[in-house]
Amino acid sequence: MSLTPDEIRTHLEALRGRDLPTHGGHTLAYVYDSGLASADAIGREVLAAFSSTNGLDPTAFPSLLAMENDLVGIAGRLVDAPDGFAGVVTSGGTESILLAVLAARDGRPDVAAPRMVLPTTAHAAFHKAAHWLGVEPVFVDVDPVTKRAVPEAMAAAIDDRTLLVVASAPSYAHGVIDPVEPIAAAASAAGVRCHVDACIGGWVLPHLRATEPDQLPWTFAVPGVTSLSLDLHKYAYTPKGVSVLLHASAALRRTHLFASARWPGYTMLNTTAQSTKSGGPLAAAWAVVHHIGAEGYAGLARTAREATLDLATAVSGIPGLSLAAEPDSTLLSLTTDGSCDVFTISDEMLARGWYIQPQMRFGDLPATLHLTFSAATATASDRIGRDLADSTAAARASGPVPVPAELVAAAGSLDPATLDDAAFDGLLALAGLGDGAGGLALPERMAPLNALLDALSPELREAILLGVIDRLARPSA
Ligand SMILES: Cc1ncc(COP(=O)(O)O)c(C=O)c1O
Repeated sequence: MSLTPDEIRTHLEALRGRDLPTHGGHTLAYVYDSGLASADAIGREVLAAFSSTNGLDPTAFPSLLAMENDLVGIAGRLVDAPDGFAGVVTSGGTESILLAVLAARDGRPDVAAPRMVLPTTAHAAFHKAAHWLGVEPVFVDVDPVTKRAVPEAMAAAIDDRTLLVVASAPSYAHGVIDPVEPIAAAASAAGVRCHVDACIGGWVLPHLRATEPDQLPWTFAVPGVTSLSLDLHKYAYTPKGVSVLLHASAALRRTHLFASARWPGYTMLNTTAQSTKSGGPLAAAWAVVHHIGAEGYAGLARTAREATLDLATAVSGIPGLSLAAEPDSTLLSLTTDGSCDVFTISDEMLARGWYIQPQMRFGDLPATLHLTFSAATATASDRIGRDLADSTAAARASGPVPVPAELVAAAGSLDPATLDDAAFDGLLALAGLGDGAGGLALPERMAPLNALLDALSPELREAILLGVIDRLARPSA
C-alpha cells in the first residue's frame, strides 16, 4: 500500500522525534549549525534541485565540474595551496583520508610493505585506510600534557618503508594543532608525503588567523605538506556529504584517479571512491559557501571560538572537571579528577537537553568529554556552563559508575578475535543488554555500558560494538 505525502511526513516526523536535534546548538558533536536560516534554506533548496544529477560523467553534467573546480579553488586559497595544486570534492573526511592514503601508497609501488607514521590522536579514519589499503600504521605517542604530536618521535619512526606521515589541525579528540612544521620537515627530508588532516579545522582555523596571529602553522605554507583534507560539511556549515582533498600538485593526485575501459560498458572514470554520485551535496555546498562568504565565515568562526574559550574558562571553576588540553580551535576536551566519570556527566547533560560526546580512555590518555562548538551553540554557552556545573555536581554526588569486577573479568576472558555469536549473547546478558531473544535492548542511561567498555581493551571494545551494530542493523519485520 502506498503512502500519501502527508502520511509520509507524519511518519518521518515521528521517527525523527528520537533523533538528536541538528539545529539550535544543543548537539555538540556530529552536527554543525551556523544559526543562519538563509544559509540553511538555500542549502536545502539546491540540495533538492541537484539531487538527481550524476557526478559520474563531467561531460554530461558540466555544472558539477564547474562547481567542484570553484570549491577546490576556494579551499586551496584558504589553506595557502601552491601554484599547480589540484584537488577533489569527496563525500566526507573519511573518503578524503582514504584517498590521501591510496595516493601515497600507489605513488610508491617500489615499497613492498608500506607504512604510515601517525600520532595516536590521528582520526580513526586513518585506521580504516590502513586496514582497507594494506598500509601498516606506526603509531607515535603524543605529549601527555599538550596532547600534541611529538615531532622528534614522529621523525624517529620514519623508515625506508614509510610512505606517509600524518598530522592533525586540530585533532578531533583533544582539539589541538600538531606541530606541523617539524613533522613535515622530517617527512620531506625522508622524501615521503605529509598529510595534514584539517577535516574539522580547515574551514575555521584560517578565519581565526587575523585575530590569532600566533596560531601554529599547518597549511601548505609549511614546507613539506603534500596533501590536506578539509570538510565542508563541518565548519563550512553545508549539508552533509562534502569534503575537499587537496594535493600540492596534480602529479601527487594522479595515483588516486581511476579509469577502467576493460569491460564492454562505458569507460569508468573516477576521481573519488564513489562512481555514480549525487550532485546534490556538492551543489548545496557551492551555494552555502557563496552565500555565507569569507566575511561571514570569519564572523561565525570568531563566535564559535569565543564560546569555546568562555566555556574553557567556566570549566576552571567547576570542581572535579578540567581541560584535557588547551583548545587551539573550536573543540573542547574535558576530563575528570576521579571524583566522577565523564560518562555520567554525559548522561546528566543529555537529561538537561545537551549532547556532549564521551570518549574512552586510550593508552595513557584519560577518558574525556568532547564538545564541538558551532556558531549556533555560542548563544547558549552560559547555559551550557551552568548545566555542566550541575551535571558534574550530580556525577560527583553519585560517584564513578561501579563496574562489576565479574563483568570485566568475564569480558576480559573473551578473545576479541574469536568472539562468536553465542559468547556475545552471553556477554550482552551479563551486561543487562540482552532482550532475551538474541537481540539488543539499549539502556536509557549509557554510563554503565560506557564505563564497562572503558575498562576493556580497545580490541574488545571493537568486538563488542561490532556485535552491537550487527544486532541493531537488522531488517525490520
Ligand atoms: C580531524 C578529523 N578527521 C577526519 C574526520 C572524519 O570525517 P567524516 O566523519 O566526515 O568522515 C573527522 C570527523 O569528525 C575529524 O574530526
